[in-house]
Amino acid sequence: MKVLLLNGSPHRNGCVATALEEMIRTFEAEGVETELVQVGGQAIRGCISCGYCGKNGQCVVKDLVNETAPKFEAADGLVVGSPVYYGSPNGTILSFLDRLFYSSSFSKHMKVGAAVVSCRRGGNSASFDVLNKYFTISGMPVAPSTYWNQIHGFTAEDAKKDLEGLQTMRNLARNMSFLMRAIAAEKQAAGLPQVERSFRTSFHDGK
Ligand SMILES: Cc1cc2nc3c(=O)[nH]c(=O)nc-3n(C[C@H](O)[C@H](O)[C@H](O)COP(=O)(O)O)c2cc1C
Repeated sequence: MKVLLLNGSPHRNGCVATALEEMIRTFEAEGVETELVQVGGQAIRGCISCGYCGKNGQCVVKDLVNETAPKFEAADGLVVGSPVYYGSPNGTILSFLDRLFYSSSFSKHMKVGAAVVSCRRGGNSASFDVLNKYFTISGMPVAPSTYWNQIHGFTAEDAKKDLEGLQTMRNLARNMSFLMRAIAAEKQAAGLPQVERSFRTSFHDGK
């Protein structure tokens, strides 16, 4: 089992990193391999909706998005971490995820997803909802915990004092490990569920 973790924060050792490190320690105890990709702080431009990826299976912009896609393809689970900026995930991680999910042609079906968010005061649950939408449109089950996957703080030192937040991360990593193992076993025993894709939005007048 392998999990890919993305840190959308520009702070390599900030609050989001503190939460992700707690998860990494737990994954290691569970025997799950991890890889962390630092997304925050990089110049990640937004999707320009050019259609290049539809023909070429990768983004026209040759940057960290295309470098990360094969790592995502090889992973059984994806953890996306983001700080809250004005009540939403930060711009860098949103630009990155729009392009990563849209441009990559491999199936994400039954890879397990988890969003992790950090704010000083407010906006965690709204940001959590935004990130979970990337998973649920892609056939990815979302791993649960004992609270929404959030931590509070302005600095890493604050986040380390959020004991419930850290506990939430440990429970999340354990549940995610369980789900990945269960899905792998069922995939081997019976294969993945059928996916229908015949219909796009279709109205009565056929237009
Ligand atoms: C541009 C900007 C906007 C922010 N907006 C919010 C906000 O809406 N709500 C909040 O509680 N904290 C906000 N913060 C604080 C960060 O979300 C918070 O400090 C977070 O835990 C930082 O995580 P990090 O150390 O991993 O970067 C904002 C910070 C910045 C730089």
